[in-house]
Amino acid sequence: MKDKILAPELIERQYEYMARVREWNPDGLKVHVVTFGCQQNEADSERITGMAVEMGYTVTESVEDADLIVINTCAVREHAELKALSITGNFKHLKKKKKSLVIAMCGCMVSQEHRKDRIKHSYPYVDFVFGTTRLYTFPEILFDCLITRERRFYLDAGDEGNIPEGLPVYRASRFKAWVSIMYGCNNFCTYCVVPYVRGRERSRRKEEILKEIEALARDGYREITLLGQNVNSYGKDLYECYDFADLLSDICKIEGNYQLRFMTSHPKDASFKLIDVMAREDKIAKFFHLPLQSGSDRVLTAMNRHYTREHYLSLVRYMREKMPEISLSTDIIVGFPGETEEEFCETLSMLREVRYDNIYSFLYSKRVGTRAAVMEDQIPDDVKADRFERLLALQNEVNLSKNREFVGKTLEILVEGASKTDKSRLTGRSESNRLVHFSGDPSLIGKSVTVKITEADLHALIGELV
Ligand code: 5AD
Ligand code: SF4
Repeated sequence: MKDKILAPELIERQYEYMARVREWNPDGLKVHVVTFGCQQNEADSERITGMAVEMGYTVTESVEDADLIVINTCAVREHAELKALSITGNFKHLKKKKKSLVIAMCGCMVSQEHRKDRIKHSYPYVDFVFGTTRLYTFPEILFDCLITRERRFYLDAGDEGNIPEGLPVYRASRFKAWVSIMYGCNNFCTYCVVPYVRGRERSRRKEEILKEIEALARDGYREITLLGQNVNSYGKDLYECYDFADLLSDICKIEGNYQLRFMTSHPKDASFKLIDVMAREDKIAKFFHLPLQSGSDRVLTAMNRHYTREHYLSLVRYMREKMPEISLSTDIIVGFPGETEEEFCETLSMLREVRYDNIYSFLYSKRVGTRAAVMEDQIPDDVKADRFERLLALQNEVNLSKNREFVGKTLEILVEGASKTDKSRLTGRSESNRLVHFSGDPSLIGKSVTVKITEADLHALIGELV
């Protein structure tokens, strides 16, 4: 099958533009990137920052100091869109103070026609906008903007589907790394805007992925997370008989002191073969994020999810049989159009049955252009809010009781940094992704330590170094 890698000349051309901007920018102007949304967006922002650094910019945490601001947006729910628009609105006064400031917007929100129009008319201080498939042309677009100072909107799919290899990357962490293994989505879940803004599924070549991971392992990265909208369909567009489970097996042959994670999985494509590989390979964290969305078969059909509650449960049973210690998390949408009280209660009963270690729950948000947006029986906001509260209350009970089971046990923790709530403490995550706070020296950041758990609350475990 034909792969979708961009011709190397197209990437070389961008390196030429990077060199031209660097020449223009001898004083090392400053860049600030704001990121909304999922890990895929975080990974994209690391490429944008990487390209900016290659163009001579230095990274600043302060928007006031920035000469170039890039806002990487999300479109999955309205809330994320409104936040991005509001923060962009706040940057208007910066442009008044510093006329040379360049403001750019990119990502999923701006890849929608109606949002592009709104930015064009209501945010005149935004210099240029580029959609997700244009990310790799950022150097060329920036160069044009610096020279012409004209506003531009680059949203045509252009090289839609093509994968840029070899772009520079500026990783936000020294020990945790994202690796995109594929882009886009073919599933068209009826509530979801992603297939419209990120295009069709396309896999990176396995050789490119393995090369990137070899380099990360050599550089001492401790946690590597493979990213894709539906990692379980990795390779379907590219190989006759090489799938995600095969890719994981091949990655695990790469030596190094790292742990492998992946997201997101789709229950219709998660295979028993994949679970067997997970159970066999020590390098793969015993943690699985498996979005359920709803516990009702009728709602799952209306969502176009292509699995049943029973199929989902069979995956969970098999995982627990093979890996009794596995930790499970999920995504739930509350108030999908037409969801009845009984159907919502089926979601609650799934939570009781599976006893997830964590859930990410969302109020259904109408997305322009999706099938669910025009379905009848949209659920009133107060009903959605009530269901949401009940879902959280139930999960809080499960979380607390699960967290308490850890008191007295010892856990291996990757130390991530100072605790947000108490700067004198360190914080890290266990293999099962549990947040753990403890006292220790900041030199431990980026290292693995053993912690004995002494207390547990709803959101975190507290412990002592042993
Ligand atoms: N409304 C609410 N939640 C949504 N998600 C995706 N689209 C919507 C929407 N329109 C949630 C799903 C998905 C997660 C990333 O975001 O649960 O798994
Ligand atoms: Fe959206 Fe469904 Fe694709 Fe996930 S699998 S990105 S929810 S369409």
